[in-house]
Amino acid sequence: MADRLPYSEKVMDHFQNPRNVGEIPDASGVGTVGNPICGDVMKMFLKIENNVIVDAKFKTFGCGAAVATSSMVTEMVKGKTIEEALKISNKAVAEALGGLPPIKMHCSVLAEEALRSALKDYYEKQGLAVPFEITKRGHNEHGH
Ligand code: FES
Repeated sequence: MADRLPYSEKVMDHFQNPRNVGEIPDASGVGTVGNPICGDVMKMFLKIENNVIVDAKFKTFGCGAAVATSSMVTEMVKGKTIEEALKISNKAVAEALGGLPPIKMHCSVLAEEALRSALKDYYEKQGLAVPFEITKRGHNEHGH
């Protein structure tokens, strides 16, 4: 890493210029998650049409890594089917950002949880059974 910050250039970019900040008023699913330890909160909005995530936005009250991972996960899910989106682990989000310092991996967990929470809300609003993939906790790649 060229600079002395523990963050990759991609993390800094997504923190300083976060993509998809905001709300989707007629969202198909909305998920809010928080980390009780650091107190950060992430809210994710998904617009889903024919099983495809056509739009994603977020609002995050949290640390720089939480903002960067929210930004990245909303970029990653757009255009994906629900099944494809469910394969996105917090580790994949961190990797797409060029990595996160170990003590910041939990911030990427929040991003994965926000995505799952919004998908859960979507299924519930549709009156459908929530697939097991959504309710199970993460992908065992949370890192510490
Ligand atoms: S410190 Fe709380 S999510 Fe990053």
